[in-house]
Amino acid sequence: MKQLTVLSLFFLVFTQAFSQQTAQATVNGKDAKTQISRQIYGQFAEHLGRSIYDGFWVPEGSNIPNKGRIRMDIVEALKKIHVPNLRWPGGCFADEYHWRDGIGPRPQRPKMVNTNWGGVTEDNSFGTHEFLELCGMIGCEPYVSANVGSGTVEEMSKWVEYLNFDGISPMATLRAQNGHPAPYKVSFWGVGNESWGCGGTMTPDFYSDQYRRYATYARDYPGTKLKKIASGASDFDYNWTEVAMKKIGTRMWGLSLHYYTLPTGNWSKKGSATNFNEIEYAKTMRNCLKMEELVTKHSAIMDKYDPEKKVALVVDEWGIWTDVEPGTNPGFLFQQNSMRDALIAGSTLNIFQNHAERVKMANLAQAVNVLQSLVLTQKDKMILTPTYHVFDLYQVHQDATLLPITIKSPDYTVDDVTIPSVNASASRDSSGVVHISFVNLNATKKITVSTVLQDVNYKTVQGRILTSSKFNDYNSFDQPNKIKPTVFTSAKKQGNQLVAELPPLSVVVLTLRK
Ligand code: AHR
Repeated sequence: MKQLTVLSLFFLVFTQAFSQQTAQATVNGKDAKTQISRQIYGQFAEHLGRSIYDGFWVPEGSNIPNKGRIRMDIVEALKKIHVPNLRWPGGCFADEYHWRDGIGPRPQRPKMVNTNWGGVTEDNSFGTHEFLELCGMIGCEPYVSANVGSGTVEEMSKWVEYLNFDGISPMATLRAQNGHPAPYKVSFWGVGNESWGCGGTMTPDFYSDQYRRYATYARDYPGTKLKKIASGASDFDYNWTEVAMKKIGTRMWGLSLHYYTLPTGNWSKKGSATNFNEIEYAKTMRNCLKMEELVTKHSAIMDKYDPEKKVALVVDEWGIWTDVEPGTNPGFLFQQNSMRDALIAGSTLNIFQNHAERVKMANLAQAVNVLQSLVLTQKDKMILTPTYHVFDLYQVHQDATLLPITIKSPDYTVDDVTIPSVNASASRDSSGVVHISFVNLNATKKITVSTVLQDVNYKTVQGRILTSSKFNDYNSFDQPNKIKPTVFTSAKKQGNQLVAELPPLSVVVLTLRK
């Protein structure tokens, strides 16, 4: 009798443990109608810390391989993952930047103080032409943020003319004198940045009126229709979105949203990039997943004013923001990038993809040496971060058609934090190949996901995985390949289900071919 009780107890515990490790997903191949804009894989390069100077831009005469001072290992890395757009020059820097200081012969360019970021001297050696040259090398579209906070309507209007007018005009002639007769044809324009804060401490009403003035004189020159992006809300500021939609509406191509994941949720002590325990890991992921709520609620407000979804939600700053690495300039925002960052990237991109109807553009903050970077540099060395590898795995979704996915996931509970272990998204590319991205946030449990694929025919399954045994593992300059993608073989077709075993702390992308 006693033996039976022990046995049944064992059975109960065993089945509970087992059931906690199984997720059920359904991919709907019939309702595939929305394109996942490749622009959600966008990046951000601000004049901040070592992003431009000692990042993209090397000193005159540097031994680091470069073309016209643009660092080539970075260019090659970004080309490989097909970065679709690059936002520049800020961020907060944009609202103090006067573009005419950054054109013409470099020795004659005036210097300025970068008051936002460390009070360092900006020599303006990297300006408009250098940025457009960089975008050309990467093969991405430029996204220029204009100065609304301390600039003028005329200044923005002339910058647009300088970059886009093809003909005889004061600005087009100046551009030709500076070595570029052909227009650059820049479509994406930010009208201010964080206008509620570093971009001018404006109210949403005042900003919306300013937007209308600035946007009026930012002209569509022949051949280049502008996609104007209004400075939008921070985090949960739904009133900003409400007012902007009411007062600007479809006069804008996009409305921005900024949200950063803080491990502790506390700006004065954000938490370390690599030295944290499982509770802090789980709290970070809970904060990261708030992006779902933010996108849903901001979109719902936009739906009220724009049911046809003409205005894009542009999440042009996102990522994890930790304390800076010990010993580095606090104004430079330099942080390491761990397996946790990769899980944040995978989960956030899944959210954006699943909201592809409204989220048409996003920019990770930031590409090089700042916050959640794709690459880190140290003198002539460059490492690819775990975040970079997620962008590499996920590039198969760029411009593919979203396949709606539903998932029933077991919970991952640590202390008072409970989040779903698994999140996912799926798409079908132009050649009919289906890709499914799964993220397992659970730090200790393998999760077996059984997926029913409705109206999806496939014969073969292949996969790639990014994982590491600890959430705070990272690639260092001594161990640059500690975390890198490998082949994933634990996915099989079983009857009408696709069964994949996701190890703890993993990002998996499956490829299904007919
Ligand atoms: O990405 C760093 C800073 O964060 C940006 O300059 C600003 O827009 C935001 O507050």
